[in-house]
Amino acid sequence: MASPLRFDGRVVLVTGAGGGLGRAYALAFAERGASVVVNDLGGDIKGLSKGSLAAADKVVEEIRSKGGKAVANYDSVEAGEKVVRTALEAFGRIDVVVNNAGILRDNSFGRISDEDWDIIHRVHLRGSFQVTRAAWDHMKKRKFGRIVMTASASGIYGNFGQANYSAAKLGLLGLSNTLAIEGQKSNIHCNTIAPAAGSRMTQSIMPEDLVEALKPDYVAPLVLWLCHESCEENGSLFEVGGGWIGKLRWERALGAIVRQKNQPMTPEAVKANWKKICDFDNASKPQRIQESIGSIIEVLNKIDSERGVSTNPTSHAASTATSEFAGAIGHKLPPFSSAYTELEAIMYALGVGASIKEPKDMKFIYEGSTDFSCLPTFGVIIAQKPIVGGELSGIPGFSVNLEKVLHGEQYLELYKPLPRAGNLKCEAVIADVLDKGSGLVILVDVYSYFEEELVCYNQFSIFVVGSGGIGGKRTSDKVKVALAVPNRPPDAVLRDTTSLNQAALYRLSGDWNPLHIDPNFAGFAGFDKPILHGLCTFGFSARHVLQQYADNDVSRFKAIKVRFAKPVYPGQTLQTEMWKEGNRIHFQTKIEETGDVVISNAYVDLIPTSDTSAKTPSEGGKLQSTLVFEEIGRRLKDIGHEVAEKVNAVFEWHITKGGRTAAKWTVDLKSGSGKVYQGPAKGSADATFTLSDEDFMDVVLGKLDPQKAFFNGRLKARGNIMLSQKLQMILKDYAKL
Ligand code: NAI
Repeated sequence: MASPLRFDGRVVLVTGAGGGLGRAYALAFAERGASVVVNDLGGDIKGLSKGSLAAADKVVEEIRSKGGKAVANYDSVEAGEKVVRTALEAFGRIDVVVNNAGILRDNSFGRISDEDWDIIHRVHLRGSFQVTRAAWDHMKKRKFGRIVMTASASGIYGNFGQANYSAAKLGLLGLSNTLAIEGQKSNIHCNTIAPAAGSRMTQSIMPEDLVEALKPDYVAPLVLWLCHESCEENGSLFEVGGGWIGKLRWERALGAIVRQKNQPMTPEAVKANWKKICDFDNASKPQRIQESIGSIIEVLNKIDSERGVSTNPTSHAASTATSEFAGAIGHKLPPFSSAYTELEAIMYALGVGASIKEPKDMKFIYEGSTDFSCLPTFGVIIAQKPIVGGELSGIPGFSVNLEKVLHGEQYLELYKPLPRAGNLKCEAVIADVLDKGSGLVILVDVYSYFEEELVCYNQFSIFVVGSGGIGGKRTSDKVKVALAVPNRPPDAVLRDTTSLNQAALYRLSGDWNPLHIDPNFAGFAGFDKPILHGLCTFGFSARHVLQQYADNDVSRFKAIKVRFAKPVYPGQTLQTEMWKEGNRIHFQTKIEETGDVVISNAYVDLIPTSDTSAKTPSEGGKLQSTLVFEEIGRRLKDIGHEVAEKVNAVFEWHITKGGRTAAKWTVDLKSGSGKVYQGPAKGSADATFTLSDEDFMDVVLGKLDPQKAFFNGRLKARGNIMLSQKLQMILKDYAKL
């Protein structure tokens, strides 16, 4: 059973708690350990007679008789400061405010007096404002607060005879929505309920048995949950009653653009498009003001763009738009190159959480490691230029407002491990465009080549919010499909806490979007603070899979597919849940602190160990250095005597490939005309050198200075390392290929 939700140590203020719903809340909070301020000024349902203090006192008595903690406050909520002061004086703090007090002054609209209008607004709207404002700064200081506003179905839907009440009640929703935004960064959450319960307020409008059946106790549990410290809900609206609870949201029709560039907008055009304006097929469900305003700005862009949308956005518009997509599909973006060195590869690895605290990560962050490797997911960095560089706005056929672009999914496939440094040539193409109704999905395929050989392939799925719903196709055989994770507990879970600087570090890998570093920009985009790059989380997760199932062996990485589900804030802990199904590792990534899934429907395909070991060169096998040693051997036959006299030493070579020793060679220049053979020195070696096959070739070809290689750790030497100075002579003069 789930552990009970407790409120020990919390101070809860419930206004209008002398009866009805408020009383039920107060009792329930107290029963679960809270110290409760029971506010009620008494009075009748119209707020007319100044009633007895007994209402609040009785509830306080009831709580105390059960061993709970409570004090009464008899002020009107209009005197919010006084009400909150009672909480501070009695208990020293205020954690929760439930704005519940209310009265009715029902009358048909034409008969509402100024007084009836004003008092309803004063008690409901202004009262909730006064009480909440008095508590606000105390909550901010403690970085905790839970607030509930009480609206009503009358406000949401309207109700005959309740114009004043409806207006005030929906005003509370607006207030709550803004408090939710302003409070978020201080962990102050504000939600609104529209309850239905039998009380003295509903006695006159509900049949008696319904008043009896709709107990306030069937509303209270929602209020308690919304006010619990573990509840992340914020800025939401719920209808609740009789044991049922449902969340409400806004739905916005796709609508219609009813004007054309340089043409006046007319009521006739509005009339002509009325059906479309009111059609909720493919409607969006905006949650933030940015989504609302953003799509209106998008309209301006659409109208202003040369090929603006027709004023008749019916079937004609759909076919126009679809045929415009057709022009974009297959469109090649300008080819580009991606050059990088170990520096960029290391910066990326640090950006996605590789760390010296994990010894097996050293190969990703220290260029001197004998098995230094690029993380496979660095493959997205190589390919990301058209996406982060804003080149999508140049696609012919439709305008893309980059402010409305989200990274939806990512697929990456490697055909061989990425070189440790290189200059890759990349080609990008618009593989397809899908119309998902609420937006368009642009599939951008990027192919990256190293020395004419295809090294990796990326598919970026870019979601353009609000541009869809124009009759385009919904699916494509080009899509690399995301797959649901298995329905069982994960086989393995790895976690990493991101640092507060994670996005600041990750962006150095080329995604400079200020959303990830600039609080003002993030605020404008609707976030409390800068968010982590989705591809940074992607890098963390892929690292976890590689660590868990491939022992960090990059040669075993084949492909990865992810869907980005939610943003992550730097400092949060990422938890990768993994399921092994053969060589496919399904995974999803959660934020440990919230339980939110941030990467979903993801998998990594690994190359089976048998395949990689087959590919790993056996002793001397496919190594390029083999050719060099064989050539040295041939040359020594002619001039070995002379060289042996000059050098007079035995060298042993350990050639590595993929981090493992793949071959040993001995060059004996001590006796006779010298000899070269595979394997360790038969006697003892004067100096032993270890380096990768690639670095060996770079030394031979003069691209890598052995001294430098030694000092930066890529060449390891044992024994008489001064002899390494003579290496140049051996390798350069006798091994030209
Ligand atoms: P109720 O009349 O039983 O409780 C309201 C309480 O607020 C009363 O005890 C009253 O003395 C107190 N109050 C009134 N003015 C006050 C003021 N200025 N300062 C402090 N306390 C004051 O009514 P009920 O049904 O429990 O309503 C609670 C809240 O739920 C109200 O805001 C109401 O508008 C709302 N609501 C209730 C519905 C229902 O089905 N019961 C439906 C929709 C909304």
